[in-house]
Amino acid sequence: MQIIKGAATQRIDHLFNSSGARFDQWRVLLKACQQWTAAIGKQGVAAQKDKCAALLDAMLPAEDFHAYPGRRLLAVLKERVEGDDSVGAARLVQRISAALMVRSYRRDAAEWEAEDDATGHAAAVPLPTSESGGRPYFEVLYVVPTPPSKWPLHAQQVRRLRRSQDQFIYEPVFVGSLEDAVLACMVNPQIQAAVIHEGFAWASTHALPLLREVLGAGLDVDPESVGVGDHGLVLARILKAVRPEIDLYLIDDCRPEDVVSDPAASGLRRVFYEVEEPLEIHLAILEGVDERYRTPYFDNLKHYAQRPIATFHALPIARGKSVFGSEWIRDMGEFYGPTLFLAESSATTGGLDSLLEPTGNIKLAQDAAARAFGADKVFFVTNGTSTSNKMVYQALCQPGDIVIVDRNCHKSHHYGCVLAGAQPYYVEAFPLTAFSMYGSVPLRAIKKALLDLKAAGRLDKVRLIALTNVTFDGHMYDTRRVMEECLAIKPDLAFMWDEAWFGFARFHWLYRRRTAMGARQQMAEWFADPKSLEAYLEQERAFGKDLDPTDSRLLDARLVPDPRVARIRVYQTNSTHKSMSSLRQGSMVLVGDQDFHHHEAPFHEAVFTHASTSPNLQIIASLDVARRQMELEGYELVTHAIALAIEIRKDVNTHPLVSKYFRVLEPAEMIPQEFRASGLASYTESGVTWAQTLEAYRHDEFVLDPTRLTLVCGTAGFDGTQFKGILAADYGIQLNKTSRNSVLLQTNINNTRSDVANLLRVLVEISRKIEIGLKQGGAPAQESFAERVKSLTEDVPGLPNFSRFHDRFRSDPAGSTLEGDMRSAFYKAYREECCEHLKLRDPEVDRRIKEGPPLVSANFVIPYPPGFPIMVPGQVIEADTIEFMRKLDVKEIHGYDATLGLKLLRAEALA
Ligand SMILES: Cc1ncc(COP(=O)(O)O)c(C=O)c1O
Repeated sequence: MQIIKGAATQRIDHLFNSSGARFDQWRVLLKACQQWTAAIGKQGVAAQKDKCAALLDAMLPAEDFHAYPGRRLLAVLKERVEGDDSVGAARLVQRISAALMVRSYRRDAAEWEAEDDATGHAAAVPLPTSESGGRPYFEVLYVVPTPPSKWPLHAQQVRRLRRSQDQFIYEPVFVGSLEDAVLACMVNPQIQAAVIHEGFAWASTHALPLLREVLGAGLDVDPESVGVGDHGLVLARILKAVRPEIDLYLIDDCRPEDVVSDPAASGLRRVFYEVEEPLEIHLAILEGVDERYRTPYFDNLKHYAQRPIATFHALPIARGKSVFGSEWIRDMGEFYGPTLFLAESSATTGGLDSLLEPTGNIKLAQDAAARAFGADKVFFVTNGTSTSNKMVYQALCQPGDIVIVDRNCHKSHHYGCVLAGAQPYYVEAFPLTAFSMYGSVPLRAIKKALLDLKAAGRLDKVRLIALTNVTFDGHMYDTRRVMEECLAIKPDLAFMWDEAWFGFARFHWLYRRRTAMGARQQMAEWFADPKSLEAYLEQERAFGKDLDPTDSRLLDARLVPDPRVARIRVYQTNSTHKSMSSLRQGSMVLVGDQDFHHHEAPFHEAVFTHASTSPNLQIIASLDVARRQMELEGYELVTHAIALAIEIRKDVNTHPLVSKYFRVLEPAEMIPQEFRASGLASYTESGVTWAQTLEAYRHDEFVLDPTRLTLVCGTAGFDGTQFKGILAADYGIQLNKTSRNSVLLQTNINNTRSDVANLLRVLVEISRKIEIGLKQGGAPAQESFAERVKSLTEDVPGLPNFSRFHDRFRSDPAGSTLEGDMRSAFYKAYREECCEHLKLRDPEVDRRIKEGPPLVSANFVIPYPPGFPIMVPGQVIEADTIEFMRKLDVKEIHGYDATLGLKLLRAEALA
C-alpha cells in the first residue's frame, strides 16, 4: 500500500491521494517548470519541456475529480506547456499550487483566472468566490449521461442558481460514469453531495485497476452481475458504503414514485423528476449540508453567551464577574478570555437543556450524533469513557450476571463489574511477549468460554461480552464475525465494544466495517437477506438445532446465528476526546440495541448514578462540534491521518541510519500468523496490493490499525518510559503509551506533514548521537550498549495469564468455568481484619505458593505499563505473577505499595 509522492508514479485511482500528496504533485510540476525556464537557451531544454508535459499529462485525469483548478485553467496550462511558454506555465503552476495549499480559491475570484493581474479581466464563467464572502465552501458531484463537451454549460447553469442569502457556496464536479463517481468521492473529500442523473455509463474511460479491486473485494460490486440499464440505485448503494455522510439526489425520467419504493432507494435524500426543478435541487443540497453543519447545542450556547443575564445560581464563575473584578485572579480571565465565562451556567433553562433528562438542544445534538455514528441513540458523557463503560455495565447487568470480558481491558471494565455485581469471566488476549504487551482475544477463546458455560448449565447467566476495539496498540477485531458466532451460541447476548480509541473509524471506508456500528449495520442487512436463513439451516443439518457444547468442531467452524431468533444488541463507547475535536473527558455511548426499550429504564438509572449533576457545558458543546466536523470533514482528516501513518512507517523503517536503531512494527510482528489468513504482513513493503489489504480487512481475524505506530526503542538502548521522557523533555514530542522496549505513536486528525518531518529529524538526531557515543566510547561502550539492548529485547518477563478466582468466590468450585464474584472479594478487603500484607520478595510468598494457604489478592494491582490488572480482588496469585512483579521495572503500580507489600485476603477470612 504505497503513498505515492511523485507525479510520475501517480495512478489515477490511488485511494489515499490525500491533499498532501496532491500538493506534492503540483510542487513537483512547479520545480520541473522552473528547471525548464532555467534551461532556456541551453542544452537539454527539450527534455525539460517533455518532462513538464509528461508530469502534467499524468496529473490531468485525477484533477478531473476536483473543481479547482478546473478544466479552464488546466487547458490554459496545457496550452502554455505545448506553446513553449515556460515562464507562463511556471507562473500559473505556482499560483495554482499556492491557491490549493492555502485554499484561497474558495474565497478569491482571482485564483480562477488565468492571468496574475486579473483585475478587470472578465471570467468566462461566474466564479464561486465572487459572491461567497466567508461562506463555507464544498463541492457537489454531478453524475451525468451527457458528453464532457456539455459540462462547462451545465456548470454555468448550476452556478446561476446561487443566491446572496445562501449559507454555503459550492462548485460542481462532473463525471460520466459510475466508476468515476465512486473514485471522485474517494479522492475528493470536499464532495458533500452527489446529484445522480440516470443514464450514465458504468465503466470509466480511464484505466482503473485499483478501483476495480476495491469495488470487487471491498464493496461486493460485481459489474458482471449488473445488467444493462440504469445504475442509479447501484451507485447510491456504493456511495453510501464509501461515504455515508454524502447526501444523494437521484434525477430520473421514469416515474420517481417507482424508484422510491425500491428498498435500495433508502440511501437517497430525495428523488427528482428529470431536471424540472433545478432551484429545488440547489436548495435541497444546501439544506442537506446545513443539517450536518447545524450544532443545536453549540449554536444555542453561542447565542446564550451574548445575552445579558443576571445569575443568582451556584456558579459564581459564570459571566466572569468574580474573575475580571478580582485583583488576584484576573490573569485567569485574561488567559481564557471572556467568552468562556459568558458561556458558563448551571442553569438548564435558556435552551441549555439538561444532560440527565435531555428534551431540547442536547437531545437534538445527541440525535445528530446518532445519525453521524450510525447508532439508534447516543448519550453524551462528560466524565470520559471510564464513566461511559460503567454506565453500560450497570445498565445491562444485574448482580450475579456473567460478563465475558478481556482481562487486558481498561480498568473501568473491572470496576464496572464490581459496581454492577457482574461476575467477570476473563478471557485472555494473545500475548506479544517480546514487546511486553497483549493483542486481542481470539474468537476461539470467547466461543470456548460460552460453550463451557453452556455445558455447565450457566449460559443463561451470560449477559454481555465486552471487548476493546481497537486495543491501545491497534489490534482490530472482526466485530461482525465475533458477534455472529457468539449469537449462534446465545442469541440474546449484548455486546459492549470499547472503542475508546476508535470513534474516528466510522468516517473512513477502510475501517467502518470493523467498527461496532458498522458491523451492526451489516448484520441487520444480512439477517434480512433470505440467504442468512439458508446458511443457518445448513448449519443446523451439520450440527443440530441445539449446538452440543462438547463438540470441539464448533470451535473451528464459522458459526452462523438463526436470523429468526438472534437479537442485534450493540453498545459502543468512545472517548471522543481521544480521536476527535472534543474537549478532554468528552465521551459518547452509542446504542444499537433492538431490545433497548427493555433496558431504557435501567440505562437511565445508570446515567443518574454516574453522571455529574453539574456537567461541563463546554464539553457538551465540543461533543456537538466534534460531530459536525466529522460529518463534514472526517473523511478528509482520517484519510490524512492514515496517509501520514504510512509515511512514518516507511520513513522510519527505510531510513539508512534511523532503521539501525528504531523500527515501527508491522502487522506481521503485531499479529501472529494464525490470525492473518490473508498473509498481509506489512503496510509499506512494495508489492503489497490494495486487494490484499482489503482481503485482510474483510477476512482476517485481526488487522492492525495503521495509525497506531509501535516504535521499538529497545534496539536503541532505551526502555519505553525513558524514551518517552527524552522525547518530551528534549524534543517537545509527547506520546501516550510505552512498553518495556517500545513507545506508541499515534497519528490523529490534527497531525501535519511537518509533525512527521519533525519526528524523523528527531529520530535522525538521536540515532546520530548513539552512533557517535558508540564510536567514541569504543569497545566498552559498545559492549554495554549490546547488553542493554539484549536486556530490553530478549530478557523480557513472561506475561502472566489470569489464574483463577479463589473457590470462596466461585458459585461452583467443582466446575470448570472461570467466572467469579469479584465484588464480594473487593468489599471484603474494606475490612482491615480480613487483610494482611506480604513483602514481594519475602520467601514466605514462595513458600505459600508452593504449600498454601493460597495467596489471594485483596485488590486490583495495575502496573503502568502495561496497564492491565495483573491481580484482581479474589484472584489466587500464582508464581508467574510474582515473577512478573519482581521483574517489573516500572514505578507506577496502582494498588501496590512497595513499603507494605502485596495486599492479601487472610486465609481465615476465606473460610
Ligand atoms: C480502552 C480504553 N477504554 C476506556 C478508557 C477510558 O477513557 P477516558 O480516558 O475517556 O475515561 C481508556 C483510557 O485510556 C482506554 O484506553
